Amino acid sequence: MKKLFLLLAVSATVLSCSGKSEMDRFVDNLMSRMSVEQKIGQLNLHSAPGFVSALKVTDEDANVKLLKAGQLGGIYGNSDVDYLRGLQEIALSSGAGIPLLFGMDIIHGHETIMPIPLALSCSWNMDLIEKTARTAAQEATATGINWVYSPMVDICRDARWGRIAEGAGEDPYLGGEIAKAYVRGYQGHDNVYDSTEVLTCVKHYALYGAAEAGRDYNSVFLSRQEALNGYMRPYEEAAKAGAASFMSSFNEFEGVPASMNDFLLDELLRGRWGFEGFVVSDATAIAEEVNHGIGDLQEVSARSLKAGLDMDMNSDGYVGTLLQSVKEGRVSVSDIDRACRRILEAKYKLGLFEDPFRHLKGTGTVYTPDAREVAYQAACESQVLLKNNGVLPLRKDARIAVIGPFADDAREMSGTWTLSSHRSECVTILDGIRSISRGPVLHARGSDIFLSGEQEENMLFSTMRAFVPGYKDREVHTVSRSRLTAEALAASRQADVVVACVGELAAMNGEGASRTDIGIPDAQRQLLEELKATGKPIVLVLTTGRPLTLVWEDENMDAILCTWAQGTEAGRAIADVLFGKVNPSGKLTTSFPRSVGQLPLYYNHKNTGRPHPDEAPYKKFVSCYTDELNAPLYPFGYGLSYTAFSYGKPRLSASSMTADGGVTLSVDVTNTGAMDGYETVQLYIRAVFSSSTRPVKELKGFRKVFLKAGETKTIDFAITPDLLKYYNHNLDFVLEPGEFQLMTGPDSRDLRSVMLTVEAK
Ligand code: BGC
Repeated sequence: MKKLFLLLAVSATVLSCSGKSEMDRFVDNLMSRMSVEQKIGQLNLHSAPGFVSALKVTDEDANVKLLKAGQLGGIYGNSDVDYLRGLQEIALSSGAGIPLLFGMDIIHGHETIMPIPLALSCSWNMDLIEKTARTAAQEATATGINWVYSPMVDICRDARWGRIAEGAGEDPYLGGEIAKAYVRGYQGHDNVYDSTEVLTCVKHYALYGAAEAGRDYNSVFLSRQEALNGYMRPYEEAAKAGAASFMSSFNEFEGVPASMNDFLLDELLRGRWGFEGFVVSDATAIAEEVNHGIGDLQEVSARSLKAGLDMDMNSDGYVGTLLQSVKEGRVSVSDIDRACRRILEAKYKLGLFEDPFRHLKGTGTVYTPDAREVAYQAACESQVLLKNNGVLPLRKDARIAVIGPFADDAREMSGTWTLSSHRSECVTILDGIRSISRGPVLHARGSDIFLSGEQEENMLFSTMRAFVPGYKDREVHTVSRSRLTAEALAASRQADVVVACVGELAAMNGEGASRTDIGIPDAQRQLLEELKATGKPIVLVLTTGRPLTLVWEDENMDAILCTWAQGTEAGRAIADVLFGKVNPSGKLTTSFPRSVGQLPLYYNHKNTGRPHPDEAPYKKFVSCYTDELNAPLYPFGYGLSYTAFSYGKPRLSASSMTADGGVTLSVDVTNTGAMDGYETVQLYIRAVFSSSTRPVKELKGFRKVFLKAGETKTIDFAITPDLLKYYNHNLDFVLEPGEFQLMTGPDSRDLRSVMLTVEAK
């Protein structure tokens, strides 16, 4: 078998100089020598035992046994180069001698951790997002990984869903631009992978972020039209940008689980969008189709394969049942061939047949100064200043009390999905402030996360407890609440200003972490109330993976800086914003509700037949609440700066255009404050009349510009027919003639408009 592999590798080297047909011939040749069992083996993906722990290749390892039997196409969840190299050696000398894919959940950086994806999206900086992915790919390949489970592009309108932290927020246009940036960053700009580029895996396809009631893994109920207009664009853009693979999601759509959904996998992804890569299931998603009530493992495996799902992650449905299904005529060998071919093509494109060890040399480095610099830049640009009554920026010589459970917690700076990060590499908020301040810096933890120690343990250890009941790696609530409060108050009374570092634990967002109460947890809210009573100005520095309800905080705090979870360089970047070395420029990509009862809440909603202004009080017989405004607390696109920007009225190069023409919209933006800064200029549209209902506004462009104090720039947007199109009720992507309102401004609430007519043909 070794001989066969060498032969194939040599021919791959010769053939890979040219294009696709060479690959076809190579894969044809390879597959002609493979048994059906070996082909099914390629469709099987397993996690490494223990997930991310240090491992040795031993005969007791179940994956090693499978490998030797030619029954594995890839392994994920471990980035120990020596271990992975050992597995690769076995793969090459067993079965058909085909190299393995090594996957990993690298979601926002590998070892050098970038801000969580929701934070990154608030930078509105596509080049920067691309750089974070590029850096992650370099670190991934330095540690043996050649396939990353990113970008996560699920649109989410409901902050109860913990996985909102992993995506780019609520807007499909922005989400599409961000999806492309990630794909470019991981895979490079051409179709050739150098040894520091990786396959991407776009997830979770599809519509996973629309889980009913924000409860993770829950059913999705959307019309195809709403799915196409409101949710699909990021998946489509990623597919068209050449993403190598997609991961099917856990949820159902139209009564069919996504992992066996012909419409999603075949008609849309491959048919309409031309995706040519392979689709892997989410972890155990095939086996979960049994719980969805579709059939036993054999039945659901057969249906998934037929629908176009190529690789089975951790269900053992394909290796366990497909051979039998071939015998019974439930699937054909050509169904298996199709899936196997797609996986082999990905390995070929990645260069694994030329050099199966190209990512396993152990020569790359992590935590380089360049990687840290990217993490720092990303952290600076993704913080969102939600409120400021003038207390920020802080004076360097001020006496500062840094209070709260997140002030000095390196672990919590990384956020969700940071399998390989090292806590010791993270800069805490306290470290960052101490490194800049020239006055006294006092510190007190001030409170636990929750009033209940049991709740605190349950959350802190929730991931480990899913595998090891009762797991605990440290004590919680070791200091009495009264003492914590007394220390916080004593420090605050001596200070000129209090920096209160509060929020939610990383374990409170991400996968399997939905919440029904999205306020700041009880113990910390009480701390804020005690601090408020001191009369000192308070800057709330918020750590969170989702929008929280902050009405009380907005009324009572002097400033609120939403830092999300910033990663390795958190403290440095946060301190630079607090002291004004960096002027904050992040803008929200997700609406902050006033109350959880408003959810789902999103700026691009429809109008209803009985609309009611967002900020108007309750009125009978119109679409509103008796006890809350329709308005969010902080709208999509919103974020303050230390300077101020003023917008002129947008103007058009012509007031009408033909259906195949175009116009230019221009708007003047002036930095009217005293500090230089970045502003993200946003463009929204509204179709006044159309044959189906459309949102009250839809983002269709944005430009992040740097303006010196006093400077004015004119920003131009090209208005093209494509920008004005939508999916009508027949699911045709159409431009309908008529009036369009074009709006520009600093956020989705504060807009000025101009009218454009699209002429009938
Ligand atoms: C998650 C995916 C992840 C996979 C592998 C699943 O539970 O939904 O996002 O990529 O596990 O770790």
